[in-house]
Amino acid sequence: MSGREEKQPLPGNGVIAILGAGSLGQLWAGYLPADKVAFLPRKGSDAPDRDSLSYRLERVDGSALSVKIPWLSSSIDQPSLLLVTTKAGDTLRALESRLPDIPSGTPLVLFQNGMGSQQAVAERWPRRPILAASTTEGANRPEPGQTVHAGRGETWIGALTDSARPLLDAVVRALASSGLTVHSEASIYQRLWNKLVINAGINAFTAILNCRNGDILNHRFYLEHIDGLCAEIAAVLCAEDCQPLAPDTIRERIETVARRTAQNTSSMLGDRQQGRTTEIEFINGYIARRGQDHGIEVPVNQMLTERVKQLSAGAKAGSSTNHIKPGVS
Ligand SMILES: NC(=O)c1ccc[n+]([C@@H]2O[C@H](COP(=O)([O-])OP(=O)(O)OC[C@H]3O[C@@H](n4cnc5c(N)ncnc54)[C@H](OP(=O)(O)O)[C@@H]3O)[C@@H](O)[C@H]2O)c1
Repeated sequence: MSGREEKQPLPGNGVIAILGAGSLGQLWAGYLPADKVAFLPRKGSDAPDRDSLSYRLERVDGSALSVKIPWLSSSIDQPSLLLVTTKAGDTLRALESRLPDIPSGTPLVLFQNGMGSQQAVAERWPRRPILAASTTEGANRPEPGQTVHAGRGETWIGALTDSARPLLDAVVRALASSGLTVHSEASIYQRLWNKLVINAGINAFTAILNCRNGDILNHRFYLEHIDGLCAEIAAVLCAEDCQPLAPDTIRERIETVARRTAQNTSSMLGDRQQGRTTEIEFINGYIARRGQDHGIEVPVNQMLTERVKQLSAGAKAGSSTNHIKPGVS
């Protein structure tokens, strides 16, 4: 990014719109100033039949508040910012149907975990101001109407397209009005990779072994594959335009996080248990695809991706019965 680029204010009416009224979307909506946030509804027959969404938000400090967020009427409102909090696999399709209604100058912030969906969106709309967020905030919805801020974290925002760069500071300021911790990030792909490396070493194992994060560490399946996985990730990192890491360093990072979040249930295990499509294609699946593009052998990433996809297919068919209460993703 050039330091000489002129900074620009956000366009539009000051409203922050959110596409994807799930756990993360509801978390941000609940913290942003109440009169400045709205959900962008699905298009067409899936659109909500009410004019607002109400839920109870439990904060990390144990306090709770009732939140009521309007659904945006896109024909009359021009939001200043669009937060995209759909799952990685839903994002391109969700934007294909909604972006025609959104002015071309409105910046988009993509919150998806993993990698691949961000590049797909930036390549599809290269002239739009598109940014990506990497967040360690944690939210879940244990039951309908209840959203839990399960872990306080930080959020880094970086520009993906050229037209987003002058807007980065204004986007960070707008999101910081939530009171959550938000930073600008000049190397957002590197930051996404850093998180991807950790997710690649924890999430699939928890989903396959049906256990909490900390429980993978002494499991034979994990111990059999972790060194091979770290060697593959290290080789792919070397081939990509990002900071290289030794396999031992990667394993140490994965295990530090697995120990620190030992009691948590990963989002991938939660998705698997609830029969939802996981984000494996954007985590180990992404590393496998990048490896193949570089001519690097990636059998462990491929195996983990296939195993998780098979489990999800089985859960959808109704074969999963063992549930653990959701925790931080
Ligand atoms: N939750 C966290 O703590 C957390 C932390 C960091 C990163 N993330 C990332 O943030 C993303 C969202 O996670 P999440 O936990 O919030 O997932 P989630 O609870 O499943 O929320 C996703 C929301 O998107 C909606 N959606 C799907 N397709 C849509 C469309 N075409 N138009 C409008 N809305 C649509 C879903 O509606 P339906 O439920 O009706 O399908 C759902 O409400 C994921 O990539 C995740 O990895 C989450």
